Amino acid sequence: MKHDAKNAKSDSGGMSRRHVLVVGGAGYVGSVLVPYLLSRGASVTCAHLLLYGNGPLMLTYWGRPDFRFVNADLRDAACYGSILEGVTDVVLLASLVGDPITKRYPEQSRDINVEGT
Ligand SMILES: NC(=O)c1ccc[n+]([C@@H]2O[C@H](COP(=O)([O-])OP(=O)(O)OC[C@H]3O[C@@H](n4cnc5c(N)ncnc54)[C@H](O)[C@@H]3O)[C@@H](O)[C@H]2O)c1
Repeated sequence: MKHDAKNAKSDSGGMSRRHVLVVGGAGYVGSVLVPYLLSRGASVTCAHLLLYGNGPLMLTYWGRPDFRFVNADLRDAACYGSILEGVTDVVLLASLVGDPITKRYPEQSRDINVEGT
């Protein structure tokens, strides 16, 4: 999506008009990106399929009006209609990451990392 530099510059945090959807936001990279975006004033929706039990991390932001968590599979296109409402930017991090897991689960890796994406 197009970056709105004019709006981004006009608020104190720099991102208060942004609503960023972070798909896979409870993962390794997302656990750094989500608090950064919140600290800059953005609203964040994290859509994540909790494969590794990293749900408790999301409790850090639970109850914040500028944060929403959706337990959703990247491949479930139907549910993304409502998830994308009001979203200005999307960061896609969800995937099966690294050689060991993609070699062990080649079909699922293709399904998620290639087709799903
Ligand atoms: N970690 C690194 O050093 C690094 C370096 C370069 C690039 N990247 C890239 O950044 C992205 C994120 O990497 P990461 O290290 O945070 O990985 P991660 O495994 O920690 O996070 C990815 C998350 O995606 C989730 N997920 C898997 N399938 C899903 C699905 N179908 N729907 C929704 N969620 C799903 C998993 O539960 C997982 O927690 C990847 O594309 C990776 O290749 C990572």
